[in-house]
Amino acid sequence: MTSHSEFDVIVIGSGPGGYVAAIRAAQLGLRTACIEKGNTLGGTCLNVGCIPSKALLQSTEHYEWLLKNAAEHGVQVNQPSMNFEKLMSRKEEVVKTLVDGIAGLFKKNKVEWIKGEAQFISAQEIEVKGEKTQCLKAKNFILATGSEPIPLPFLPFDEKIIVSSTGALVLPKVPKTMIVIGAGVIGVELASVYRRLGTKIQIVEMLEQITPAMDPAISKLLLQILKKQGLEFFLGAKVVEGSVNKGLAKLKVEHEGKTIELSADVILVSVGRRPYSKGLNLSAAGIEIGPKGFIPVDGAFKTTQNHIYAIGDLIDGPMLAHRASEEGVAAAEIITGMHPHVNYMSIPNVIYTHPEVAAVGMTEKEAREAGFALKVGTCLFKSNARARCAGDTEGLVKVIGEDTSGRLLGLHIIGPNASEMIGEGVIALEKKMTVEQLANASHAHPTLSESIKEAALNALGRAIHF
Ligand code: FAD
Ligand code: NAI
Repeated sequence: MTSHSEFDVIVIGSGPGGYVAAIRAAQLGLRTACIEKGNTLGGTCLNVGCIPSKALLQSTEHYEWLLKNAAEHGVQVNQPSMNFEKLMSRKEEVVKTLVDGIAGLFKKNKVEWIKGEAQFISAQEIEVKGEKTQCLKAKNFILATGSEPIPLPFLPFDEKIIVSSTGALVLPKVPKTMIVIGAGVIGVELASVYRRLGTKIQIVEMLEQITPAMDPAISKLLLQILKKQGLEFFLGAKVVEGSVNKGLAKLKVEHEGKTIELSADVILVSVGRRPYSKGLNLSAAGIEIGPKGFIPVDGAFKTTQNHIYAIGDLIDGPMLAHRASEEGVAAAEIITGMHPHVNYMSIPNVIYTHPEVAAVGMTEKEAREAGFALKVGTCLFKSNARARCAGDTEGLVKVIGEDTSGRLLGLHIIGPNASEMIGEGVIALEKKMTVEQLANASHAHPTLSESIKEAALNALGRAIHF
């Protein structure tokens, strides 16, 4: 065992929280190391999360467009087909390019990448077990060890038949049938991928609605659209038993007062993720794990130890890559005495189905429950010229403002390119704009974002186009 290096900051975990924190710390002149137990940098997001799932969603969306929409535009193609191996290998290439990019960024910024699993020996020292075992000291630590999928107790992951998102991203072939347990973000995104490839999909959700984090009216519309696309839903359903027999997975589900039996080639369990701190030996550092496994922190991301910070999926809050990155930057800046602020009101949330769903700020329900009197305006994409040109008219924009001050409280979009358009709501909330300021800003014509202006005008009773 070697023991000599002392750093200003050691970041544990190289996901979008950890790698961004490490780069920012190094930019600020701190001697920084980032420890990663995986073979590549980038964490869940780049290796088995955001990036591979979005690559598959993008490719299968192109495929479905060719199958279902090309003819309407006069585009004539012979019967398109999907080369599944190519689809998967392209996804791997996209991941590889991006994870290699982080290694390049580490070099450029002089962040030391140390391969291995870190565990605390004391509050000042960690042991890293990699090719060799070494002890490292630091003045500050940033914990960014992320999260892991939650299994169902009676259906443990084998990542072949009972899969988490990780297994679902590397299936060897397109399954004929799939059951998805949990109609949250992972459930509807990955169900969309495999439905587009021809898999028959049944989704079992315990609540009466899908994607519970979204505005209920938007979730309801998404449900209608996904059903029309061919996904079958069992809402308010309880999975009571599961088994695998001769390569076939079986479930017993209580639904509408009856017990039904479902079977499929693959079951995707996507009932949420939980913080991951296994192996860190936090007790040696004097840090206790809080409710549901999250590490408790104060407003400055400090754990109960003043020099140990925690960020990203490991702490309570929406499990999103960009949130983890904002917190990573903030933690690094706080270490150097700066006073950054993460504005959780303006962190967007996107579901990459088609149409996409994107939201920032409060839902109508949250705003009403908080006691606000509201002005709410909507605009259907059917009335938008650019959506008509694209032949992509499903969905709407919903603008929520406070009645008396006119302040924008939330923007919710279900429609084409919602993920890009939501940026306008982020800036508007960040700058504390009013609905009127949003309505008065000129938007290029013809663009989808004109629907945001129109929804804002509608909230003020001044809609022009419907
Ligand atoms: P992680 O990215 O989980 O990284 C933690 C890292 O720490 C891992 O690399 C792990 O190996 C390492 N580690 C753990 N313990 C140790 C140890 N003891 N020593 C050394 N290293 C350790 N979010 C979005 O915003 N947009 C999306 O489109 C999106 N899509 C997703 C799709 C899927 C299928 C999944 C599963 C998640 C998705 N997410 C998305 C969520 C996003 O991936 C997470 O919110 C994000 O990765 C959290 O970042 P993090 O840095 O906190 O942790
Ligand atoms: P989720 O929290 O989004 O959804 C889980 C769903 O499963 C909920 O609808 C819940 O009601 C349901 N559920 C829970 N227990 C159940 C049970 N026993 N039976 C049936 N249904 C059950 O979690 P998900 O989809 O696993 O994603 C985990 C996290 O990853 C999310 O919190 C999200 O932040 C992140 N993520 C983000 C993405 C994005 O930003 N586009 C994409 C994918 C994941």
